[in-house]
Amino acid sequence: MTSETITAAASGTWKLGDLTVNRLGFGAMRLTGSAAFDLGTPSDRERSIGVLRRALELGVNHIDTAAFYFSSLRSANELINRALAPYPDDLVIVTKVGPGRDPSGKWLPWATPEQLRGQVEENLRQLGRDHLDVVNLRLNGPGSLAEHFGALAELRDAGLVRHLGISNVGPAHLAEAQAIAPVVCVQNRYGLETGRADSDEVLRACGEQGIAFVPFFAIAGEAGAFGASSNDGDDGQGSEVLAVARAHGATEAQVRLAWTLHQGPHVLAIPGTGNPDHLVENVAAGALRLSADELARLGSVHDG
Ligand SMILES: NC(=O)c1ccc[n+]([C@@H]2O[C@H](COP(=O)([O-])OP(=O)(O)OC[C@H]3O[C@@H](n4cnc5c(N)ncnc54)[C@H](OP(=O)(O)O)[C@@H]3O)[C@@H](O)[C@H]2O)c1
Repeated sequence: MTSETITAAASGTWKLGDLTVNRLGFGAMRLTGSAAFDLGTPSDRERSIGVLRRALELGVNHIDTAAFYFSSLRSANELINRALAPYPDDLVIVTKVGPGRDPSGKWLPWATPEQLRGQVEENLRQLGRDHLDVVNLRLNGPGSLAEHFGALAELRDAGLVRHLGISNVGPAHLAEAQAIAPVVCVQNRYGLETGRADSDEVLRACGEQGIAFVPFFAIAGEAGAFGASSNDGDDGQGSEVLAVARAHGATEAQVRLAWTLHQGPHVLAIPGTGNPDHLVENVAAGALRLSADELARLGSVHDG
């Protein structure tokens, strides 16, 4: 399934607050270098810009990014700005705050509530916008999010941010955040072989309340954190995925994406790639429909 005629519209739509997006979106973390946070090998600038422009041509209107997605010479936000500004009205750019890296790339301590305004402004500068469509508060542990989310709610009230989301959270965080301000999306690690035990409950809670659930690492699983290309399919789990893929003339990456989209109409996909061929393949996965039998077979693949 590599047809360039399949667009992201084939995946259907969902709303992030008042903003409608195609369920098949794009993650910008892979645009800057050979590995997600690799300072040594910057990406080819024109290739990354080409991937972003092609994504929009293919109907993608939901891009996930962060100011801390950068390599020595490339920043995801600046690539997005260079490739896509002036931005089309229907493009929704989602960014995240909480984590940060210093100019040398070293991780900083998690932001204090007071530092979140600076992180929002950094995203505004890099993207060249005067407000951000959606900002996710990315947590780094199980503690309360109240002070941080309260600080973001103030920025929302001030008009710097249109909608808020949360990331790396459990159901209690969702309820805690909703007591402070509306939540339009939850972004957690989740895929066929990753994060299911941790996130099944919050995925369900989001579905019940019409909140988007946006998985990351849906293709690469845990390997995604360290820059590997994809799951290789030569183990017991991979062979089930491979069999389903072969039956559809699809790739395993496409089956993994399709599986996540089948977890509910509120589940969005943000596959990350710097490869134009992978982009086309990932968008086409939005048209891949799996049978109940295939979903049952894949569902028994265990959470690694
Ligand atoms: N909230 C958070 O804490 C958080 C954490 C991590 C990521 N994210 C977001 O989620 C997005 C997705 O996560 P991710 O990019 O780490 O993982 P992913 O989408 O699961 O997989 C990306 C990896 O798979 C490869 N890949 C992509 N499409 C492929 C295809 N069709 N065939 C084979 N390999 C393929 C990519 O390499 P190539 O470039 O070679 O295609 C890359 O190594 C990120 O881009 C980022 O925006 C959020």
